[in-house]
Parts: sequence; structure tokens; C-alpha cells
Amino acid sequence: MKIAIACDHGGFKLKQAVIQELKRLGHEVEDFGTYNEESCDYPDYASKAAKAVASGECEKGVVICGTGIGVSITANKVKGIRCALCHDVYSAKKTRQHNDANMLAMGARVIGEGLALEIVDAFFTSEFEGGRHIRRIEKMMALEKE
Ligand code: RB5
Repeated sequence: MKIAIACDHGGFKLKQAVIQELKRLGHEVEDFGTYNEESCDYPDYASKAAKAVASGECEKGVVICGTGIGVSITANKVKGIRCALCHDVYSAKKTRQHNDANMLAMGARVIGEGLALEIVDAFFTSEFEGGRHIRRIEKMMALEKE
């Protein structure tokens, strides 16, 4: 699938590793920046990746900053986005199965590269289970219309 990815300066190094992992898994990756470790503002980049997912240009997305918090809050401001901040494999799997998350956020200053790549693998190999979870997601997304 086509995956949008973005980061700030704090997430740049991890983003490079995640891009390689996504390609190894057979995905196409569109990189929305940032492209170096110079200090920058995470909303500028996370919003681009989130908009690409919301528009359908990309099927899913990954955003990375120091904590993962700034990029996840930013992505979740874009209509249609369900961005899950995950720092463990169980949550990454469950957010796909139960929340049908379409974006993954991680904090490069919180977890190491090895765990981050396992989280990416879990997120992108887990499928939405549907059923009772559909109703809950519909209630969640209805809030965007209020
Ligand atoms: C940048 O210093 C840092 O604030 C950013 O990477 C992120 O952690 C924000 O949530």
C-alpha cells in the first residue's frame, strides 16, 4: 500500500529506518519531510502526511517526533484521521484491530529503533476486525461533525 510518512527534527533518524522497514514489507512510501535534523515545527510536516491520508492519496501514514505526542495531536486535527500513538506492540496491533487507526505515531526519544520497527510491523500486518468496533468508530467520527 502507499504510506505517507513525516517527522520533525527529533524523529528524522528513526524515520529513515521506518522508511526502509516499510519498503522491506513491500509498501510504497511518500516522504513529506522534514529531511534533516535542523529544528523545525512538527505541525508543518505531520499535517501534510495526515492530509495525504485523509484525501486518499495515501492509504495510511506514520508520523514521528520526539515524544510522538505533537505529531499525533496534529494528525488527529485533520478530518478522517485516527492516529494512534503507540510505544508497544500490543497497542499497535489492537489499534488496527479495534480502532481501524489509519495513522501511527511514535516518539523517537521514547523508544529505540528495534521496538519502533516491531511496532511498525504489528501495525501494518494487523487488520480491522469490524463487527462491534464499527459502531464505536462511527460514534467517534461523528464528533467531527459537531
Ligand atoms: C521538539 O523538541 C519536540 O517538542 C517534538 O519533537 C515533540 O516531542 C513534540 O511533541
